[in-house]
Amino acid sequence: MTTPDFDQIIDRRGTNCNKWDDMEAIYGVPTAEGLAMWVADMDFRPPAPVQRAVERLAAHGIYGYPSAHPDYLANIQWWMDSRHGWQVDPDWILTAAGLVNGTALAVQAFTRPGDRVILMTPVYHAFSRVIRAQGREVAEFPLATEDGRYVMDWDSWAELLTGRETMLILCSPHNPGGRVWTPEELRQVADFCARHELILISDEIHHDLVMPGHSHTVMAKAAPEIANRLITLTAATKTFNIAGAHVGNAIIADPVLRAAYKAQLLGLGLSPGMFGVDMVAAAYSPEGAAWVDALITYLDGNRQVFDAGVSTIPGLRSMPLEATYLSWVDLTGTGMTPDEVKARLAKDAKIAANAGETFGKGGEGHIRFNLATPRANVETAVARLRAAFADLQ
Ligand SMILES: Cc1ncc(COP(=O)(O)O)c(C=O)c1O
Repeated sequence: MTTPDFDQIIDRRGTNCNKWDDMEAIYGVPTAEGLAMWVADMDFRPPAPVQRAVERLAAHGIYGYPSAHPDYLANIQWWMDSRHGWQVDPDWILTAAGLVNGTALAVQAFTRPGDRVILMTPVYHAFSRVIRAQGREVAEFPLATEDGRYVMDWDSWAELLTGRETMLILCSPHNPGGRVWTPEELRQVADFCARHELILISDEIHHDLVMPGHSHTVMAKAAPEIANRLITLTAATKTFNIAGAHVGNAIIADPVLRAAYKAQLLGLGLSPGMFGVDMVAAAYSPEGAAWVDALITYLDGNRQVFDAGVSTIPGLRSMPLEATYLSWVDLTGTGMTPDEVKARLAKDAKIAANAGETFGKGGEGHIRFNLATPRANVETAVARLRAAFADLQ
């Protein structure tokens, strides 16, 4: 594999790109000078095998109904085994149109209108959107903070139960905050779900993006006894920056749960498109694995540059990032209101980054910055933040 050039600036403006082309409309940050650090995709091209797969399809030029890709399930199986030590039977793998869709299907299959679905907040905002859109209630269980990082708060949470909870959605690793849950924490989640008869959705989309020194444990391995209530969601899209392919896995060992989930896919007439399946089959390869290793090293470098810069600004504190490329910065120390912070970010720093409150209870006063961009952009972001908050120094 040739060494990937993550430093290369690839202009995404004018390519119908959500992150760069929509930041002006959403954040009021001018497209020309703005830095897009919000939605979670990367400003990098995927590894060469993915590009070759798409070029092969384009060169052939006929885009009719595809047959099952011979390598698709086998390569997912290989990836889970070789990267995560998890032996998955290909029969367990169902394909959703991405993991927001994968979550929505689970909510529809395993809960009823009026049920409460537990989220450990602050957490990835699309979970609550999907739950509410289907007439279910979001039960916000706020994470506690210990030594500057999120921890689960079982004592307080026990008091939040009403008896109407039927599902818990775990984000593992956690977005935002970047926690890699330990096997012990995962077992506590599993015990809680068993005790309260909850279906457990373990969204592990960030499982490959783990910083050096940390190691992700698959929920199915941490607590095998939970298999009869566990849906694991994984994808290649976050890892390889192919989110536009809208494809993801629901891996379900239990035959009863799997049949119920499959019924949703059938009922909605959902089947994957040819591009997504081909890209995933190509990404899950030894060359793809080497690319991910190089990516992690690069992201870790970005994290260090960003954290070092942020730590020089009084009132700003970034959470130690154990996984993901999404830095979670606490700005409550500035004494400013969330609106003041957001105005400075957009107008002075010209940075589009996610407002903490959109992630639910506990997110107020925080901003999430996407660091999956060439190092030069991270350095510019730090310089702009230092200037925008210069009066605090
Ligand atoms: C935890 C989590 N789940 C799901 C998604 C989105 O998945 P998809 O693009 O496959 O719908 C994201 C995107 O940031 C995420 O952070």
